[in-house]
Amino acid sequence: MPRALARSESSPRGASLDNRIVERAYARWAPVYDLAFDAALQPGRKHAAAAASRHGGLVLDVGVGTGLELPMFAKTTRVVGVDLSEPMLRRAARRVEQGLDHVAGLGVMDACHLAFADATFDVIIAPYVLTSLPKPEESLDEWVRVLKPGGEIILVNHLGAGSGPIAWVEAQLAKNSATIGWRPEFPWAVLADWLAGKADLQLSERRALPPFGLFTLIRITKRAADGSDATR
Ligand SMILES: C[S@@+](CC[C@H](N)C(=O)[O-])C[C@H]1O[C@@H](n2cnc3c(N)ncnc32)[C@H](O)[C@@H]1O
Repeated sequence: MPRALARSESSPRGASLDNRIVERAYARWAPVYDLAFDAALQPGRKHAAAAASRHGGLVLDVGVGTGLELPMFAKTTRVVGVDLSEPMLRRAARRVEQGLDHVAGLGVMDACHLAFADATFDVIIAPYVLTSLPKPEESLDEWVRVLKPGGEIILVNHLGAGSGPIAWVEAQLAKNSATIGWRPEFPWAVLADWLAGKADLQLSERRALPPFGLFTLIRITKRAADGSDATR
Protein backbone atom coordinates (compact mmCIF):
# COMPACT_ATOMS: atom_id res chain seq x y z
CA MET A 1 0.00 0.00 0.00
CA PRO A 2 1.03 3.67 -0.06
CA ARG A 3 4.70 4.14 0.66
CA ALA A 4 6.40 7.32 1.80
CA LEU A 5 6.85 9.91 -0.90
CA ALA A 6 10.42 9.51 -2.07
CA ARG A 7 12.37 12.18 -3.89
CA SER A 8 14.61 11.32 -6.79
CA GLU A 9 17.77 13.44 -6.77
CA SER A 10 18.06 13.31 -10.53
CA SER A 11 14.47 14.32 -11.28
CA PRO A 12 13.68 18.01 -11.78
CA ARG A 13 11.31 20.40 -10.03
CA GLY A 14 10.32 18.26 -7.07
CA ALA A 15 9.57 15.12 -9.04
CA SER A 16 8.49 12.41 -6.66
CA LEU A 17 8.81 9.23 -8.69
CA ASP A 18 11.40 6.57 -9.29
CA ASN A 19 11.11 3.37 -11.30
CA ARG A 20 10.41 1.22 -8.25
CA ILE A 21 7.55 3.48 -7.19
CA VAL A 22 6.15 3.50 -10.72
CA GLU A 23 6.36 -0.29 -11.02
CA ARG A 24 4.57 -0.75 -7.70
CA ALA A 25 1.90 1.78 -8.59
CA TYR A 26 1.14 0.17 -11.96
CA ALA A 27 1.19 -3.36 -10.51
CA ARG A 28 -1.69 -2.09 -8.35
CA TRP A 29 -3.40 -0.31 -11.25
CA ALA A 30 -3.11 -3.17 -13.77
CA PRO A 31 -6.21 -5.20 -12.74
CA VAL A 32 -8.48 -2.14 -12.70
CA TYR A 33 -6.73 0.21 -15.15
CA ASP A 34 -9.08 -0.34 -18.10
CA LEU A 35 -12.14 0.04 -15.92
CA ALA A 36 -10.85 3.31 -14.45
CA PHE A 37 -9.18 4.92 -17.47
CA ASP A 38 -10.49 3.46 -20.73
CA ALA A 39 -13.34 5.89 -21.45
CA ALA A 40 -11.99 8.93 -19.58
CA LEU A 41 -8.68 9.02 -21.45
CA GLN A 42 -9.95 7.74 -24.78
CA PRO A 43 -10.08 11.08 -26.70
CA GLY A 44 -6.37 11.72 -26.15
CA ARG A 45 -5.43 8.22 -27.25
CA LYS A 46 -7.54 8.60 -30.40
CA HIS A 47 -6.01 11.96 -31.33
CA ALA A 48 -2.49 10.69 -30.69
CA ALA A 49 -3.01 7.45 -32.64
CA ALA A 50 -4.58 9.42 -35.53
CA ALA A 51 -1.57 11.76 -35.66
CA ALA A 52 0.81 8.79 -35.58
CA SER A 53 -1.17 7.03 -38.30
CA ARG A 54 -1.09 10.16 -40.52
CA HIS A 55 2.70 10.12 -40.28
CA GLY A 56 2.79 6.33 -40.71
CA GLY A 57 5.68 3.88 -40.73
CA LEU A 58 7.22 2.17 -37.70
CA VAL A 59 5.75 3.50 -34.45
CA LEU A 60 7.17 3.07 -30.94
CA ASP A 61 4.49 3.31 -28.24
CA VAL A 62 6.37 4.10 -25.02
CA GLY A 63 4.39 3.34 -21.86
CA VAL A 64 1.87 1.33 -23.85
CA GLY A 65 0.35 0.09 -20.58
CA THR A 66 -2.55 -2.32 -21.11
CA GLY A 67 -2.56 -1.42 -24.81
CA LEU A 68 -5.79 0.58 -24.92
CA GLU A 69 -4.49 2.70 -27.82
CA LEU A 70 -3.21 -0.26 -29.87
CA PRO A 71 -6.48 -0.88 -31.78
CA MET A 72 -6.61 2.84 -32.72
CA PHE A 73 -3.60 2.89 -35.09
CA ALA A 74 -4.11 2.55 -38.84
CA LYS A 75 -3.55 -1.04 -39.86
CA THR A 76 -0.89 0.19 -42.30
CA THR A 77 1.40 1.19 -39.42
CA ARG A 78 3.71 -1.22 -37.58
CA VAL A 79 3.63 -0.64 -33.84
CA VAL A 80 6.08 -1.73 -31.13
CA GLY A 81 4.97 -1.22 -27.52
CA VAL A 82 7.21 -1.00 -24.45
CA ASP A 83 6.48 -0.45 -20.78
CA LEU A 84 8.23 -0.69 -17.43
CA SER A 85 5.33 -2.59 -15.88
CA GLU A 86 5.05 -6.28 -16.65
CA PRO A 87 1.52 -6.61 -15.19
CA MET A 88 0.32 -3.78 -17.48
CA LEU A 89 2.08 -5.33 -20.50
CA ARG A 90 0.55 -8.75 -19.87
CA ARG A 91 -2.84 -7.18 -20.46
CA ALA A 92 -1.59 -5.50 -23.63
CA ALA A 93 -0.33 -8.90 -24.84
CA ARG A 94 -3.79 -10.41 -24.36
CA ARG A 95 -5.27 -7.58 -26.41
CA VAL A 96 -2.77 -8.19 -29.21
CA GLU A 97 -3.51 -11.95 -29.21
CA GLN A 98 -7.13 -11.12 -29.96
CA GLY A 99 -6.06 -9.95 -33.43
CA LEU A 100 -3.96 -6.79 -33.78
CA ASP A 101 -1.73 -7.77 -36.69
CA HIS A 102 -0.16 -4.31 -36.97
CA VAL A 103 1.47 -4.75 -33.53
CA ALA A 104 4.97 -6.01 -34.25
CA GLY A 105 5.99 -6.63 -30.64
CA LEU A 106 5.74 -5.77 -26.95
CA GLY A 107 8.54 -5.65 -24.40
CA VAL A 108 9.44 -4.66 -20.86
CA MET A 109 11.73 -1.67 -21.17
CA ASP A 110 12.62 1.54 -19.37
CA ALA A 111 11.75 4.65 -21.39
CA CYS A 112 15.21 6.00 -20.47
CA HIS A 113 17.11 2.98 -21.80
CA LEU A 114 15.59 1.68 -25.01
CA ALA A 115 17.13 -1.41 -26.60
CA PHE A 116 16.83 -0.01 -30.13
CA ALA A 117 19.40 1.38 -32.53
CA ASP A 118 19.60 5.09 -33.32
CA ALA A 119 17.03 6.37 -35.85
CA THR A 120 14.88 3.21 -35.83
CA PHE A 121 11.36 4.66 -35.60
CA ASP A 122 9.25 7.03 -37.71
CA VAL A 123 7.07 8.01 -34.75
CA ILE A 124 7.36 7.84 -30.97
CA ILE A 125 3.99 8.05 -29.24
CA ALA A 126 3.45 8.31 -25.48
CA PRO A 127 -0.15 8.95 -24.38
CA TYR A 128 -0.41 9.80 -20.67
CA VAL A 129 3.17 8.74 -19.95
CA LEU A 130 5.41 11.80 -19.60
CA THR A 131 4.02 12.67 -16.17
CA SER A 132 4.69 9.09 -14.96
CA LEU A 133 8.37 9.23 -15.83
CA PRO A 134 10.90 9.68 -13.03
CA LYS A 135 13.31 11.28 -15.54
CA PRO A 136 11.27 13.00 -18.25
CA GLU A 137 14.14 14.88 -19.92
CA GLU A 138 16.41 11.81 -20.07
CA SER A 139 13.54 9.78 -21.47
CA LEU A 140 12.82 12.41 -24.13
CA ASP A 141 16.51 12.45 -25.10
CA GLU A 142 16.36 8.69 -25.51
CA TRP A 143 13.24 8.94 -27.69
CA VAL A 144 14.96 11.49 -29.92
CA ARG A 145 17.90 9.09 -30.27
CA VAL A 146 15.73 6.24 -31.61
CA LEU A 147 13.64 8.59 -33.82
CA LYS A 148 14.51 8.98 -37.50
CA PRO A 149 15.23 12.49 -38.82
CA GLY A 150 11.89 13.83 -40.09
CA GLY A 151 10.07 11.74 -37.49
CA GLU A 152 7.64 12.87 -34.80
CA ILE A 153 7.25 12.53 -31.05
CA ILE A 154 3.55 12.63 -30.09
CA LEU A 155 2.61 13.18 -26.46
CA VAL A 156 -0.70 13.50 -24.65
CA ASN A 157 -0.74 14.62 -21.06
CA HIS A 158 -2.38 16.69 -18.43
CA LEU A 159 -0.16 19.72 -17.82
CA GLY A 160 -0.23 21.58 -14.52
CA ALA A 161 -2.42 24.70 -14.41
CA GLY A 162 0.35 26.71 -12.71
CA SER A 163 -2.02 28.88 -10.65
CA GLY A 164 -5.63 29.16 -9.51
CA PRO A 165 -7.99 26.58 -7.99
CA ILE A 166 -7.05 23.78 -10.40
CA ALA A 167 -3.38 24.23 -9.47
CA TRP A 168 -4.38 23.93 -5.82
CA VAL A 169 -6.21 20.64 -6.51
CA GLU A 170 -3.20 19.40 -8.48
CA ALA A 171 -0.88 20.27 -5.59
CA GLN A 172 -3.05 18.26 -3.20
CA LEU A 173 -3.12 15.27 -5.59
CA ALA A 174 0.65 15.58 -6.11
CA LYS A 175 1.15 14.67 -2.47
CA ASN A 176 0.02 11.19 -3.54
CA SER A 177 2.17 10.90 -6.67
CA ALA A 178 3.98 7.90 -5.22
CA THR A 179 0.67 6.06 -4.84
CA ILE A 180 -1.05 7.02 -8.06
CA GLY A 181 2.11 6.77 -10.19
CA TRP A 182 2.09 10.16 -11.93
CA ARG A 183 2.54 13.85 -11.26
CA PRO A 184 -0.74 15.81 -11.59
CA GLU A 185 1.13 19.14 -11.33
CA PHE A 186 3.64 18.38 -14.15
CA PRO A 187 4.52 21.81 -15.58
CA TRP A 188 4.76 22.69 -19.27
CA ALA A 189 8.07 24.39 -18.37
CA VAL A 190 9.81 20.99 -18.11
CA LEU A 191 9.09 20.40 -21.79
CA ALA A 192 9.65 24.00 -22.86
CA ASP A 193 13.08 24.14 -21.16
CA TRP A 194 14.06 20.77 -22.60
CA LEU A 195 13.00 21.86 -26.11
CA ALA A 196 14.79 25.21 -25.83
CA GLY A 197 18.14 23.45 -25.87
CA LYS A 198 17.44 21.30 -28.94
CA ALA A 199 18.29 22.84 -32.30
CA ASP A 200 17.25 19.66 -34.13
CA LEU A 201 13.71 19.71 -32.72
CA GLN A 202 10.65 21.78 -33.51
CA LEU A 203 7.38 22.08 -31.59
CA SER A 204 4.85 21.35 -34.37
CA GLU A 205 1.64 21.41 -32.38
CA ARG A 206 0.28 22.06 -28.89
CA ARG A 207 -3.48 21.57 -28.72
CA ALA A 208 -5.98 21.29 -25.85
CA LEU A 209 -8.07 18.11 -25.95
CA PRO A 210 -11.37 16.99 -24.46
CA PRO A 211 -12.71 16.53 -21.90
CA PHE A 212 -12.73 20.26 -21.00
CA GLY A 213 -9.24 20.90 -22.37
CA LEU A 214 -7.83 18.93 -19.43
CA PHE A 215 -5.28 17.23 -21.66
CA THR A 216 -2.82 18.52 -24.24
CA LEU A 217 -1.62 16.96 -27.47
CA ILE A 218 2.00 17.86 -28.20
CA ARG A 219 3.81 17.06 -31.46
CA ILE A 220 7.55 17.52 -31.76
CA THR A 221 9.35 17.04 -35.07
CA LYS A 222 12.97 15.98 -35.45
CA ARG A 223 14.40 17.99 -38.31
CA ALA A 224 15.19 16.02 -41.44
CA ALA A 225 18.82 15.56 -42.49
CA ASP A 226 18.53 18.60 -44.82
CA GLY A 227 17.57 20.75 -41.81
CA SER A 228 13.88 21.03 -42.73
CA ASP A 229 11.09 20.20 -40.29
CA ALA A 230 8.72 18.94 -42.95
CA THR A 231 6.82 15.84 -41.87
CA ARG A 232 5.33 13.30 -44.18
C1 LIG B 1 -1.04 6.31 -17.32
S1 LIG B 1 -0.32 4.87 -18.03
C2 LIG B 1 -0.62 5.14 -19.77
C3 LIG B 1 -0.80 3.84 -20.50
C4 LIG B 1 -1.33 3.96 -21.93
N1 LIG B 1 -0.44 4.73 -22.76
C5 LIG B 1 -2.71 4.55 -21.92
O1 LIG B 1 -2.96 5.54 -22.64
O2 LIG B 1 -3.58 3.99 -21.25
C6 LIG B 1 1.43 5.23 -17.90
C7 LIG B 1 2.28 4.03 -18.31
O3 LIG B 1 3.65 4.47 -18.35
C8 LIG B 1 4.45 3.41 -17.87
N2 LIG B 1 5.75 3.92 -17.45
C9 LIG B 1 6.02 4.73 -16.41
N3 LIG B 1 7.34 4.96 -16.31
C10 LIG B 1 7.93 4.25 -17.32
C11 LIG B 1 9.27 4.09 -17.75
N4 LIG B 1 10.30 4.68 -17.12
N5 LIG B 1 9.50 3.32 -18.82
C12 LIG B 1 8.48 2.71 -19.48
N6 LIG B 1 7.19 2.83 -19.11
C13 LIG B 1 6.91 3.60 -18.05
C14 LIG B 1 3.62 2.83 -16.73
O4 LIG B 1 4.05 1.53 -16.38
C15 LIG B 1 2.22 2.88 -17.32
O5 LIG B 1 1.88 1.69 -17.98
